[in-house]
Amino acid sequence: MLRSSLLFLSRQPSLFRLVRHNRLAKAMASRFVAGETVDSAVTAVQRLNAAGITASLDLLGESVTNEGEARAAAAEYVRLIDAIAKNKLDANVSVKLTAMGQDISDDLCETIMLSILDRAHQHESFVRLDMEGSAYTTRTIEFFEKRLYPRYPDNVGIVLQSSLRRTWTDVERAIAIGCRVRLCKGAYLEPATVAFPSKADVDRNYVTCMQALLERGRYPGIATHDPEIISLAKAYVAEQGIDRSRFEFQMLYGVRRDLQEQLARDGYRLRVYVPFGTQWYPYLMRRLAERPANLAFITGSIVKEFMSRGKRASTGSA
Ligand code: FDA
Repeated sequence: MLRSSLLFLSRQPSLFRLVRHNRLAKAMASRFVAGETVDSAVTAVQRLNAAGITASLDLLGESVTNEGEARAAAAEYVRLIDAIAKNKLDANVSVKLTAMGQDISDDLCETIMLSILDRAHQHESFVRLDMEGSAYTTRTIEFFEKRLYPRYPDNVGIVLQSSLRRTWTDVERAIAIGCRVRLCKGAYLEPATVAFPSKADVDRNYVTCMQALLERGRYPGIATHDPEIISLAKAYVAEQGIDRSRFEFQMLYGVRRDLQEQLARDGYRLRVYVPFGTQWYPYLMRRLAERPANLAFITGSIVKEFMSRGKRASTGSA
């Protein structure tokens, strides 16, 4: 119930306008978001790299509704790929297609994505297409398979979510075409028609898909903080004699840092997803939905902000 409310709030842009400059909300976001600028993201990645951890940088932003915004976001990504190369960071990037104009037109989105992939190709880098809600799953996979992957098979990969009933089939398809997959559980609220309502089923499906990807997939990203699943992955690769260089664990910036450091110390490859930028609100809300214990803190600050604005409005101040 709380999770669905938080996910609902994550889709309310008016709330973001309310909390955008709230100091406490920003402080809360700073746990999960590496600042608002490219420089702050570079500093965060340098710290991770020094600890033997690689990164995937995400310039925060979701669906855009005009071409100018999509092109501006793409130009930022091209600059980001250049900044990764210039600063010799061990990092790639993650991109949401809706931020690249997917909701405007597939042709525009293709032009934009090819400009990003072209730059990634020049720098021998990699671009991961984040997966959004289930309304986008078919479109994202088809777009990837038809328009991007054939041109840049070494520079682009997708994300599949174990919460979706269809994912086992998508995993087999990804293995068959030889593309790189990041496997996660799925951060969006989905109807039971398309997703498993029970967490136990989501976790079971994760393990089945993970084992297939570890055994037969191309350098999968095992994206989870779930200690049981991580233990199962370690046991599986040991049993099957799968070399640690054939896959990587992936985690989110600021989540289970203890586990991140432990994995790196134990000699596993680990990539941390590092979001940055001004559009942090929906991302923050999804992270809170995963762990509502973090919520008391931020709710207090939002309510305080709301009350003080209400008071200012009623006394006629700006
Ligand atoms: P689960 O939610 O079961 O959590 C397992 C344990 O991890 C918890 O018990 C807790 O200890 C810890 N934990 C998890 N979330 C936490 C939080 N926010 N704060 C503190 N502790 C927390 N989703 C998506 O739909 N599309 C995508 O493209 C991506 N991309 C992506 C990249 C990477 C690198 C990661 C790690 C995750 C994603 N996700 C995603 C998010 C993913 O779908 C999922 O919502 C979160 O990873 C939480 O799921 P877990 O697998 O960690 O398990």
